[in-house]
Amino acid sequence: MKTIKVNLGKRSYPIWIDHGLLRRVPELLGPRTGHQWVIVTQATVRNLYAHKLTELLKSSGIDVSTIIIPEGEEAKSLSEVESIYEQLLELNCDRSTLLVALGGGVVGDVTGFVAATYLRGVDYLQVPTTLLAMVDSAIGGKTGVNLPQGKNLVGAFYQPIGVVVDPELLQSLPRRDVISAMGEILKYGAIRDRDFFEKLRQNMDSLLSLEDEEVLLKAIVRCCEIKADVVSHDEQESDLRRILNFGHTIGHALETVAGYGILQHGEAVAYGMIAAGQISHELGYLNQQDHELLVSTLRKLPLPKLPDLNPEVVLEAIGHDKKVKAGRLHFVVLEGLGNAIVTDEVSDERIMNVIKDGIFQH
Ligand SMILES: NC(=O)c1ccc[n+]([C@@H]2O[C@H](COP(=O)([O-])OP(=O)(O)OC[C@H]3O[C@@H](n4cnc5c(N)ncnc54)[C@H](O)[C@@H]3O)[C@@H](O)[C@H]2O)c1
Ligand SMILES: [Zn+2]
Repeated sequence: MKTIKVNLGKRSYPIWIDHGLLRRVPELLGPRTGHQWVIVTQATVRNLYAHKLTELLKSSGIDVSTIIIPEGEEAKSLSEVESIYEQLLELNCDRSTLLVALGGGVVGDVTGFVAATYLRGVDYLQVPTTLLAMVDSAIGGKTGVNLPQGKNLVGAFYQPIGVVVDPELLQSLPRRDVISAMGEILKYGAIRDRDFFEKLRQNMDSLLSLEDEEVLLKAIVRCCEIKADVVSHDEQESDLRRILNFGHTIGHALETVAGYGILQHGEAVAYGMIAAGQISHELGYLNQQDHELLVSTLRKLPLPKLPDLNPEVVLEAIGHDKKVKAGRLHFVVLEGLGNAIVTDEVSDERIMNVIKDGIFQH
């Protein structure tokens, strides 16, 4: 088993990674086993894994209940949060209750927010079941829900007590979710570790098919190390943590304009990285060779074709993002492959030209 620590003083916690770890949850959480546990999950994941986890916890003498939230982004809402509070009260949950977020990013974000606020805060454990959640959303303590006006507009930084990563759970994951997560995985290499990026390039097919357990495990471990390191140095995204947004400024806008469901998050980020790579190259930060390596690798991902998008509308969506972030566009560029920096020198015009250039077409 690999253990990576997120170093945040008193709020430090481990990320445990290994095949078959779900079976070892009671052992990993030893001292907590006397308390009441509540698993928050979705119907699909309940049928696949929550029943198994419940049986296991019960046989370890743990009082365990399950709360089911709807599938999809709609579950990240204040009304769903309220419904979870009510169910926790009905179950007589007090401040010693442990919440377990068993699912993807949606379950993790909602459960984390409930944990941050129910009775002014209870502990929660992240047990991610999607590849995206394993390498990204389950780590770092960003919790929250959406408002009708936009995504993730309400939330809190609230760290879990631990993250249990069991890649065996991915065998049931639809292939498209794997491809989408690969966008984020490549991002880690691009912003922080060139060697890792090259290894991902070499092993892309094996990773996408999940066929080689060791290659997959190593990739997940490296992503978790990078995210843990960045978060340990900048928990609340003042500066360094912003590099994790590489590809996200344009990616988010594409995701919104295409309409949710057309592009998955990681797919949009992959397109966003192609654009951000072009901008990095134009500004003289990324040389020709690195730029080609970045783009040709991203193009190996089987991404869906982008619908015809009006560049003006995409720029408007970026503008909205900017307003939300106090008027400044912090754009992440690569100063060489494997090293990201944040700059505010990227103009709207430059972004517009890149989108107009049709660089997204295969
Ligand atoms: N907090 C953060 O730092 C952070 C970072 C990135 C993304 N996010 C959020 O994460 C969310 C997206 O997360 P996601 O991509 O994991 O999607 P998701 O949580 O919607 O999960 C996708 C679907 O897969 C199903 N599923 C989950 N695990 C499965 C498994 N092992 N086998 C079969 N089906 C399974 C789920 O039931 C769900 O319907 C977004 O809301 C995004 O805003 C948060
Ligand atoms: Zn992302």
